[in-house]
Amino acid sequence: MNKIIAIDGPCGSGKGTVAEKLAKIFNLVNIDTGATYRCVALSVLKNNIPLDDEEKIIELSKNIDIKLSTDGKVYLDNEDVTNIIRGKEVSNIVSEVSSIEKVRENMVNIQRKMAENHDVVMEGRDITTVVFKNATYKFYLDASLDERVKRRIKQNKEKNIDMTYEEVYENIKKRDYNDMHKKVGALIRTDDQIYIDTTNMHIDDVVNKIKDIIERN
Ligand code: DC
Repeated sequence: MNKIIAIDGPCGSGKGTVAEKLAKIFNLVNIDTGATYRCVALSVLKNNIPLDDEEKIIELSKNIDIKLSTDGKVYLDNEDVTNIIRGKEVSNIVSEVSSIEKVRENMVNIQRKMAENHDVVMEGRDITTVVFKNATYKFYLDASLDERVKRRIKQNKEKNIDMTYEEVYENIKKRDYNDMHKKVGALIRTDDQIYIDTTNMHIDDVVNKIKDIIERN
């Protein structure tokens, strides 16, 4: 079986950066599953679909064309959407879009297909519990809300996304709640995940900790 490193955690817990670094160290395909839900959300906005029209959103998610390239770029219908999917508009609706069960089914299928025949590091909210329950390694990364807000603001600056502390704080708080209370695919902690609180850790220390665990097992 191919090797699967599964990482779950709330936004700003460091899982995206950690996954990128692990992919380089262990030569893995990096699959950012949040990007797949963000592409659905962007498509909803582009097609002016009201958020309560679940049928249309499900239909759209069934036929969506998403590609994640090895250099970290995200393509929706062959258009580079890497930056726009991180913007305010998409961030504000993505959690709600990702709560639709049939949308999740479609995205989980796409994510499993992306991992076929590859050794992968896959990060998201339900990788250790739904997408790859039998992953080779399962991690849950966490950090305090304040620290996660600060990290997201720093990332936003690098991507020229202009959001205030309050805006990011409210957005993350709301998303945490939604992500942890979904009927299907909720972000939860389980006994078989390795839990790492990254609040006071440098990102390289998190990567080294995971690297040590992988190399020891
Ligand atoms: O990791 P992110 O912030 O890019 O994820 C965007 C949203 O997608 C997040 O609010 C929750 C959702 N998501 C999910 O429900 N399941 C996943 N495996 C990944 C993300």
